[in-house]
Amino acid sequence: MSSYSSLFHLNVSFRMHQSALIITLCLILSQQASARPVQLHHDHTGSYRFQSLQLPFIGGLECESCKVIMDIVDRLLAQNSTEDDILDVLVEFCKLGKVETPRVCEYIAREFKDELFGVLIGHYASPDDICGSILGASCAKPYDPDTPWNVTFPKTPKPPVSIPSPPKAGAPKLTILHLSDLHWDRMYQEGAEVECGEPLCCRSNDGKPAKGKPAAGKWGDYRGCDTPTRVFENLLQYVAKEHKIDFVYLTGDLPAHDVWNQTRYDQTSIVYQTTTVLQKYLPGIPVYPAVGNHESAPVNSFPPPFITGKNSITWLYQAMVDAWITKAQWLPKDANSTLIKGGYYSMRLFDGLILVSVNMNMCNNQNWWLLENEDDPAEELEWLIGVLQKAEDNQDHVHILGHIPPGSGDCFVQWSKNYNEIVNRYESTIRGQFFGHTHKDSFEIFYEPKTKRPTSILYNGGSVTTYSNVNPNYRIYEVDGNYKNSSWAVLDHATYVMNLTDANLTDNPKWKLEYTAKTAYGMKALQAVDWNELVGKFEAANSTLFDKFYTYYYKSNVPGPCDEKCKTGFICDLKTAQSGTHEFC
Ligand SMILES: *[C@@H]1O[C@H](CO)[C@@H](O)[C@H](O)[C@H]1NC(C)=O
Ligand SMILES: *[C@@H]1O[C@H](CO)[C@@H](O)[C@H](O)[C@H]1NC(C)=O
Ligand SMILES: *[C@@H]1O[C@H](CO)[C@@H](O)[C@H](O)[C@H]1NC(C)=O
Ligand SMILES: *[C@@H]1O[C@H](CO)[C@@H](O)[C@H](O)[C@H]1NC(C)=O
Ligand SMILES: *[C@@H]1O[C@H](CO)[C@@H](O)[C@H](O)[C@H]1NC(C)=O
Ligand SMILES: *[C@@H]1O[C@H](CO)[C@@H](O)[C@H](O)[C@H]1NC(C)=O
Ligand SMILES: *[C@@H]1O[C@H](CO)[C@@H](O)[C@H](O)[C@H]1NC(C)=O
Ligand SMILES: *[C@@H]1O[C@H](CO)[C@@H](O)[C@H](O)[C@H]1NC(C)=O
Repeated sequence: MSSYSSLFHLNVSFRMHQSALIITLCLILSQQASARPVQLHHDHTGSYRFQSLQLPFIGGLECESCKVIMDIVDRLLAQNSTEDDILDVLVEFCKLGKVETPRVCEYIAREFKDELFGVLIGHYASPDDICGSILGASCAKPYDPDTPWNVTFPKTPKPPVSIPSPPKAGAPKLTILHLSDLHWDRMYQEGAEVECGEPLCCRSNDGKPAKGKPAAGKWGDYRGCDTPTRVFENLLQYVAKEHKIDFVYLTGDLPAHDVWNQTRYDQTSIVYQTTTVLQKYLPGIPVYPAVGNHESAPVNSFPPPFITGKNSITWLYQAMVDAWITKAQWLPKDANSTLIKGGYYSMRLFDGLILVSVNMNMCNNQNWWLLENEDDPAEELEWLIGVLQKAEDNQDHVHILGHIPPGSGDCFVQWSKNYNEIVNRYESTIRGQFFGHTHKDSFEIFYEPKTKRPTSILYNGGSVTTYSNVNPNYRIYEVDGNYKNSSWAVLDHATYVMNLTDANLTDNPKWKLEYTAKTAYGMKALQAVDWNELVGKFEAANSTLFDKFYTYYYKSNVPGPCDEKCKTGFICDLKTAQSGTHEFC
């Protein structure tokens, strides 16, 4: 506590900003701590955290305070205060300001210690860098991660666009299960406190609720709680019984949202444990994973390969190699070199189909390690171009898996711009993109920048978790294949939802078909042009098609009506696969 008292003499501006500092600390830590999936701007839950904390949250104040607190941390560092001294100060602020419960304050500081000091001490970032990166360019101009940079393409000219034609009647089809955002909480407990005041509740160490207060449901809870073990298992049992799955796309975020208290051991154990459970319920069915932003400890911390030593992330990627390659043999041995390097890989699924799994944490603007250098971290995009060019040369086609969608506000603008250029260049080679992260059932359309011609479609598979206020879901894709010259195009998709209220009421969870895309939306095919046409229909006044989309988006647990402004926001998001662009908004 030594430096704590001396801090109060640092300067006047500090005293003036005392309350602002508390709010700022809240902002910095809870931004990471809540690590909620991106809230679209029309989504009314965006300010949920601060409302629930009942802090006087004044717009504009937080930016100034962020700089002040970062400046103080800088000075303490310059005074040779130990990291523990500085952490003590932060923890004290957190407790005084009732930013989180005392135990979350203690734990969160420890959780983010290495990252905070790794970034600060390495002089990767000034107060402006950090505040700008947390609060956006309107707060401060950070080391500008938005400085333009370009990936280089091979000289091979882009071949003429080829849109797959519908398969002949009776042609074989593949059935792919898409699971996203599991957020499996191994400490979920029926009857536990639901309103615990922490980023995640309904856990065995939350205690029992007071009389008359809500208790965690047996099959889950809409409010700030993650997936109980029995829901994960029930889903897989149902899938095994009901569908004939060829393989699984698992698009990231295996652990729960207890981000204040996650060790490297916890995070690797959930990789092993989910692998074991998937193998148990879906024996012999390969699972192809992508790395989510929650896989690491702390959350969002994915040091690129140039960070070596104790902060290197090899501990996590090695566990993935052990679980997915060595133990489950889902991925081939040669996937290990890129998986270890940057958490991405490619492999041949069939004669004619290549699978690419990208690590979107290399575009995650909450990944502080990228403040040093955001230009194609881990050389992932150069690698992606290489894989796609080779596929084009061989007349193979490609499915891409990832976690954070490139149009998300969580994805660095320059990375996203380059990713979009790659998709547009290889639009005829890419026959499917499957992502997650937002916990919502949605999609993103890519466009050719000059002509505004739709080039590609990306599916967001929703989530198994209910976090927050959505029903759990899984998705089944019907894909053209596997036969000679199959197009590998997605022909239709079906989404299955568990009505949580009903499951708790009847103690009988039912996974019901919510809709199939072609029937619900009256689509002829599921190409980018068809999705673009559908969104055109959404735009009509009182569009019943849009109303359907809106219901499915929340997996049939809609928060309320969507007015014109809300609808405009949705349409903008559906037509934005490149973050930071607003052409269709
Ligand atoms: C901090 O430590 C460094 C190296 O040990 C020393 O050179 C410097 O004078 C110290 N600064 C202060 C303010 O004590
Ligand atoms: C990137 O490419 C664009 C378009 O080809 C070009 O205008 C721009 O100067 C390039 N930027 C850099 C940093 O090379
Ligand atoms: C069941 O789930 C609903 C929705 O989250 C919740 O309101 C309820 O408290 C849960 N528990 C029980 C026992 O119904
Ligand atoms: C931290 O996690 C451990 C289990 O990994 C649990 O026993 C403990 O109660 C947790 N502590 C807090 C403060 O959440
Ligand atoms: C990883 O890849 C290298 C080179 O491709 C290979 O020599 C090594 O045996 C692989 N290791 C595992 C565990 O598969
Ligand atoms: C597959 O496509 C190639 C090239 O277009 C064509 O020559 C070949 O006849 C096709 N094979 C079948 C079985 O359709
Ligand atoms: C979910 O189940 C509850 C209770 O059975 C029911 O009232 C509600 O209408 C259902 N929701 C949907 C979207 O079917
Ligand atoms: C849309 O619905 C509103 C409210 O029901 C109604 O006032 C309006 O006339 C409708 N617009 C069209 C174009 O049907």
